[in-house]
Amino acid sequence: MIETAEVALLRAWRRERRAEGSRVALVPTMGFLHEGHLTLVDAARRRADAVVMSIFVNPLQFGPTEDLDRYPRDLARDRALAEARGVDLLFTPSVGTMYPPGADTRIVPGEAAARWEGAARPGHFAGVLTVVGKLFHLVEPDVACFGQKDIQQATVVQAMVRDLDWRLDVEIVPTVREPDGLALSSRNVYLTEEARADALGLSDALRSVQAAFRGGERSAPALERVARGRLDLYAGVQPEYIAIVEPARLTPVADAQTGTIVAIAARVGTTRLIDNVILSEG
Ligand code: PAJ
Repeated sequence: MIETAEVALLRAWRRERRAEGSRVALVPTMGFLHEGHLTLVDAARRRADAVVMSIFVNPLQFGPTEDLDRYPRDLARDRALAEARGVDLLFTPSVGTMYPPGADTRIVPGEAAARWEGAARPGHFAGVLTVVGKLFHLVEPDVACFGQKDIQQATVVQAMVRDLDWRLDVEIVPTVREPDGLALSSRNVYLTEEARADALGLSDALRSVQAAFRGGERSAPALERVARGRLDLYAGVQPEYIAIVEPARLTPVADAQTGTIVAIAARVGTTRLIDNVILSEG
């Protein structure tokens, strides 16, 4: 595995891949890798000959009161995990490389970013799109892999690629969970033992909604009540939103159908967690 923080080296490596006719996949991350990130590498590998992973904790997507300073980092461990999983090039730029003094142009997202995470975290998706757009131009991937865990992020990125006519595929990879259902997240390290137990409320509620849908329930308000009733069983969970939405722009629907997304955000102790499920007949 090659590791570099230098744009010139990345570009030289990319030119070689082009010369040999290789397809390149990109997996953008903020590091502190877990099995969710590594599953994206597996998906990338299936779609391309060479896999680039980026690790960059992007200051632009954190709000002023968010966890930028304490965001977990462990580059030595990440390096070993990435290499063992078959990443070909690990790109670890500095903040100064990605945002030199005076670099203040932003990519502004459209309607898919307006609600849910976008409403809770003003500026977040502009920060995500700006860094993802830069990474797309630096790496020039044929395909980029994003996790369903952050379904709105993946949707907003897909909209950017479509709306701005960029030539790459964006693949959304199913969420990887702990055996008990908790979606893997770098932020799970913030959870105390008690909060870890409460955090199960999100996946539990989503499972109940999926079961109700498979049992024939189609009404979005009824499905929302199922989720809320389940979340209420977890004393430490404060739900922020339960969204029942269509997949293109994440606008609410009155009646669910196969492909409808149910997304939940909740506070568990001091940690904010998100999770979602795509409804299906099973
Ligand atoms: P990060 O939170 O590190 O996540 C990197 C990628 O891993 C994202 O596409 C995310 O959806 C995916 N991922 C996280 N947990 C997952 C899980 N349990 N199962 C499957 N995939 C999972 O998301 C970001 O970083 C940043 O916003 C980024 C896109 C890198 C831009 O800065």
